[in-house]
Amino acid sequence: MLMNKKSTGKKKTVKKAKGNKNLKTFISSQKVAARVKALARRISKDYAGKVPIFIGVLNGSFIFISDLVREVTVDVEIDFLKLSSYGDSKISSGEVRLLKDLNCQIEGRDIIIVEDIIDSGLSMKYIRDLVLQHHPASLEFCALLMKKGLSNLSFNIKYVGFEIENRFVVGYGLDYAQKYRNLKEVAILLNG
Ligand code: IMP
Ligand code: MG
Repeated sequence: MLMNKKSTGKKKTVKKAKGNKNLKTFISSQKVAARVKALARRISKDYAGKVPIFIGVLNGSFIFISDLVREVTVDVEIDFLKLSSYGDSKISSGEVRLLKDLNCQIEGRDIIIVEDIIDSGLSMKYIRDLVLQHHPASLEFCALLMKKGLSNLSFNIKYVGFEIENRFVVGYGLDYAQKYRNLKEVAILLNG
């Protein structure tokens, strides 16, 4: 926050898990890039002749959505919304709140929600209910990562980068207590 002068940032910037005893590479930056390209190819094909609105869920999706849209070959529009549920914890509070609303008009448009990771699915369910109230022409979901064994999802996530075991991961936009978002790869946090 602008008014808060306290800083929790450390001087050393971590870009790679290698050499950091708290981190273990889980998905290399090369593998992530290849998968993002493949997702973008599929989306470009599926939305040929359309102008979808990509809606990124802040903060975690900011790197994924920027890489993704630059690989997509159809015209796109981009907007963001922000939810709160985890705070600085590794476990979901189970309560989702809208911290930043959309600026775009949803009605009659093709919407793709872009998320970093789906865990319980509560965030996606909340967003789905919200967006559907505004009558989009279509609504699909794209997540870089999806944890296996979800209990709360009653709808399909069409575009999934990687299905992963239930581990807490960081990097490529994902954080733990706001750290590690700028890792180029996805890593497992060993002693968070
Ligand atoms: P869900 O509502 O339980 O599906 O939680 C989704 C949100 O929780 C994601 O958008 C992330 O911000 C956060 N999250 C869930 N799992 C992880 C993780 O392993 N690492 C970092 N953030 C996570
Ligand atoms: Mg998120």
